[in-house]
Amino acid sequence: MAITSPSTKIWWNQPVSKTELTWIIIAFLWGLFMFFMMIYWHGAGEQNLSNEAYRIRPEVFAERTQAMVDAYTVREEAGFPVVHPPPGSDIYLIARLWQWWPILELEKDKSYRLHLSSMDYQHGFSLQPVNINLQVHPDYELVLTLKPNEAGEFGVICNEYCGIGHHSMIGKLYVVE
Ligand code: CUA
Repeated sequence: MAITSPSTKIWWNQPVSKTELTWIIIAFLWGLFMFFMMIYWHGAGEQNLSNEAYRIRPEVFAERTQAMVDAYTVREEAGFPVVHPPPGSDIYLIARLWQWWPILELEKDKSYRLHLSSMDYQHGFSLQPVNINLQVHPDYELVLTLKPNEAGEFGVICNEYCGIGHHSMIGKLYVVE
């Protein structure tokens, strides 16, 4: 911050130097390039699936998840219900400090409507090792059509820093034949 006034008060009428102008053009073109890169990468990167987002209160989302858990739990693992919902149905996954709840068990080559939402802060859904990444927010649900094309055990890790237990926010997802 300057204490004294600048000597030339009308500073905005000065001619722009060539170097500065060159940098402004480079920055502008780079900005455009990066913008179109986002659109390109949406398809080519295969990380950010096409999704829809709707407003939802955490209590309502928790209720729907609980209803699915009550109806389709097949076993327990370390205190977590393992849920095997019918193919084609709406399935729910809760993100909260610091867990993914419940454990979903899906069938290969069957399609599901996956709903993701958070009960508290922002979390990041990262499906490993396939590297699918989605942002999970409170008050919004992200809905996407999911059709697993590989059987196995997948990890769900949180890739958005969410506090002291962030590193332990690890969930599981099974795909069975
Ligand atoms: Cu949840 Cu980091």
